[in-house]
Amino acid sequence: MDLNKYGPWALVIGGSEGVGAAFARKLAADGFKLVLVARKPGPLEALAEELRAEDAEVRVLSADLAQPEVLDQVRAVTDDIEVGLLIYNAGANNTRGRFVELPREVTQSVIAITVVGQADFARHYGALMCRRGRGGIILGGSLSGYMGSPTLAAYTGAKAFSRIFSEALWAECQPLGVDVLHLNIGFTATPAMARLDIDISVAEAPEKVAQEALDNIANGPVWIVSTPGNLERVRKISVVDGRAEIIRAFAIPPRDQMADLQRSQSEQAAP
Ligand SMILES: NC(=O)c1ccc[n+]([C@@H]2O[C@H](COP(=O)([O-])OP(=O)(O)OC[C@H]3O[C@@H](n4cnc5c(N)ncnc54)[C@H](OP(=O)(O)O)[C@@H]3O)[C@@H](O)[C@H]2O)c1
Repeated sequence: MDLNKYGPWALVIGGSEGVGAAFARKLAADGFKLVLVARKPGPLEALAEELRAEDAEVRVLSADLAQPEVLDQVRAVTDDIEVGLLIYNAGANNTRGRFVELPREVTQSVIAITVVGQADFARHYGALMCRRGRGGIILGGSLSGYMGSPTLAAYTGAKAFSRIFSEALWAECQPLGVDVLHLNIGFTATPAMARLDIDISVAEAPEKVAQEALDNIANGPVWIVSTPGNLERVRKISVVDGRAEIIRAFAIPPRDQMADLQRSQSEQAAP
């Protein structure tokens, strides 16, 4: 990863475990200084210590992205440094149910983290990068952002916002020297998924997801992680005609069937 173009500091939002931690390790190895943000102080401190032991300079902040003051909190630890790379990784969904029945706090927090959060952070750090004429922004997305799925209305809608927003931001920022990438992630073996008791044995490795994103940061606006079956699913669910049938046929299955879906998608995609 080009330190001159995207350094010296990388800010990883959701940077304590899973894909976020994989980003942090790879960037530290390339000489980046890191600001890592997440809620639980334990995993944040553990990762920071690991990276510092390898001579990386690391700042950590424990903060909740669902809270309205979070950008101010993060700015308090970044206003004196040059953030050349923003990675907004956090944004998984842990509660499923009918939108009209779920508590407002649950669905609003999904919207706050992915819609409001990505927009606020991209505006603040993106403006500074565009003024400098260099930098990069990676916004975390999901295959589910190509189609609304029952029990996941806020999540699928928020990820659709992220993709469309990223595309526009990419077109605006690229002429100013700033790369924008919407990272479209499929089923991935992260601690967040494991905590939901999902079988992650066939899920993608977070390290591969992070590596593909860094390798393709200049190949925006969208990068679909190359797990077998991902691209084929996107092609099937993103057609314009017959949306009712598409949504019925390709709804994201219950958690205990996620691994089966991944297996069958991978088999169908096999050459
Ligand atoms: N895993 C998959 O199968 C999958 C599939 C499609 C898309 N994705 C996308 O990939 C990204 C990463 O997903 P993930 O599975 O690793 O889970 P995640 O919970 O979105 O990300 C984990 C990281 O974000 C932090 N985080 C989560 N909620 C936060 C909050 N409210 N405030 C501050 N930090 C927060 C976590 O630490 P704390 O818990 O300590 O806060 C951790 O560092 C997400 O955008 C997700 O939508 C994942």
